[in-house]
Amino acid sequence: MSGLVGYIGERNAKETILEGLKKLEYQGDSSGIAILGNGVAVYKEKGKIQDLEQSIQAEKLTGTAGIGHTRWATRGKPNRMNAHPHQSRSGRFVLVHNGMVQNDAELKKKYLPEVKLMSETDTEVIVQLVEYFQHQGMDVEKAFRRVLNELQGTFSLVLVDAQDPDTLYAAKNKSPLVLGIGHGHENMVASNTMAMIHVTNQFKDLRDKEYVILSRDAVEIKDFKGQKIDRQTYTVNWDASSTDKGNYEHFMLKEIDQQPTVLRNIIKEYRNKDGQLRAGDHLDHMHIPKRIYIVACGTSYHAGLAGKRLLEQVARIPTEVHIASEFLYGQPLIEADSLFVFISQSGETADSVGVFNNMKQLGHPTLAVTNVEGSTLYREADYTLLTHAGPEMAGASTKAYTAQVAVMAILSTYLAERQSLQTGLDVFYELQKVSRAMETLQGLKDQAKQIAHQFLKGGKSCFFIGRQLDHTVCLEGALKLKESSYIQAEGYAAGEFKHGPIALIEEGTPVFVLITDESTASIMRNNIQELDSRGANICVLAAEGISEPGDAWVLPKVHPLLTPLVTVIPLQLIAYYAALALGREVDKPRHLTKSVTME
Ligand code: F6R
Repeated sequence: MSGLVGYIGERNAKETILEGLKKLEYQGDSSGIAILGNGVAVYKEKGKIQDLEQSIQAEKLTGTAGIGHTRWATRGKPNRMNAHPHQSRSGRFVLVHNGMVQNDAELKKKYLPEVKLMSETDTEVIVQLVEYFQHQGMDVEKAFRRVLNELQGTFSLVLVDAQDPDTLYAAKNKSPLVLGIGHGHENMVASNTMAMIHVTNQFKDLRDKEYVILSRDAVEIKDFKGQKIDRQTYTVNWDASSTDKGNYEHFMLKEIDQQPTVLRNIIKEYRNKDGQLRAGDHLDHMHIPKRIYIVACGTSYHAGLAGKRLLEQVARIPTEVHIASEFLYGQPLIEADSLFVFISQSGETADSVGVFNNMKQLGHPTLAVTNVEGSTLYREADYTLLTHAGPEMAGASTKAYTAQVAVMAILSTYLAERQSLQTGLDVFYELQKVSRAMETLQGLKDQAKQIAHQFLKGGKSCFFIGRQLDHTVCLEGALKLKESSYIQAEGYAAGEFKHGPIALIEEGTPVFVLITDESTASIMRNNIQELDSRGANICVLAAEGISEPGDAWVLPKVHPLLTPLVTVIPLQLIAYYAALALGREVDKPRHLTKSVTME
């Protein structure tokens, strides 16, 4: 959702904060920055970070402390007035905020009846309240703490005081916030580690209902009662280049191309020197459950669908997959002796975290499959498996999906080994094979581009159909296409197509067909004929050995349970080239935010 950055140190704060914000800008609708120095200078702009950057280009901002924000509008229109930072009445206090405060109207009525608010946001109430309590005689820290204790809702926020250029105040409750520990006289805070990786790779977590006072040489973490808290520093092995496009025009293509390397990384991380699987000692204490519930959203949910097949066939454990936002308000009957697996690239998605908190409270064991060390799910789950995909910068998820499926294969194998089952899946050998297959597919970019032009340039709505695991990839292929190119796309189980959607087929309607399973190949060919005779424009992607002349793409053969790892590649590439052909903003699809931290 919105993103925030705070910096205090020896570097130019404007440059450092803008660089951080750019890493966070998943199509923010407005942005702003406040730099401390002689007082505080505040600038805001509607539009992208680049618009803000341009508008302050000529300003000589030499301060070495400040805060910045990129806004994803929730309360109030995206305009300059509602953009953060917001200021208190006198201009002394300045604040950026992510999340949503629920009781701002009551607080305004109770404490600030005379104050005329300048914006439509809940955030402005927070900063006005700091000034109100400071005027009541409290020092700044006390006033800040008092406000934190008054707020209901979700927030991560950073406050600066124009009269004190040597301090930042930050706090968190149910919205992401991480502390960056600088190497010299500098410290940072941001809603995501990626926004700080150009300064440091050393971090400290901040938990809910905690605040921190940052100076150049220290960070002091306290709870909302003011009790000091010791927190360990951890290192994230991502470097600054992993958040750059390098020679690529877009992150999306870079990340599609990184997938074979990510797979090899995963193998390296989960295989010991004797070639055995090592999932981490902590997992050895995990009880083998009778049932597994996978909970996730979006692309991660689609990875969960592939994970279900792996867990059931390899580890022989019945598995259900649930969309987090549905589970949250309609909990199914849960079998005792169950394990909850949360799949989440960011580890911060509000719906998944919501279910996670409920299940933890009910005492169910939890396992997080996530890409972000230090994220909420990573920190708080009983067990964790990292997906080791490196930072995913593009709005549309690609390498996180394949990494998640690969880690689900590893988890399934691990659970099978713990039960001494014959798996029929030599997981590392098969993943190596997949990584080579991925490389072959990536060499066929011209083919993907040609398909995108031939089938999608008209922007007509289209379908993806397949059976079983192919169906799960169809869902992901359709999601990739719709979010990147804004073409209406639906993934369907091929057998269901005749039960209604076939009525939508017109002359030239594009239908992408996935066929990787020999046992359903002939019935899929019948389905194709039915569509063909109704005028559909059919593009078949079929596996080696079952492909036929006229198919648009022959997919390398891999282990049947790992086919999603290869079938998804052409679909990702087709989505990318369709978006490009239609002139979309590939890395920052409209209305989308990388990490959906609000319900
Ligand atoms: C699609 C996409 C989203 C995310 C979803 C869950 O390309 O990126 O559908 O997969 O918002 O996010 P995480 O995995 O961070 O929980």
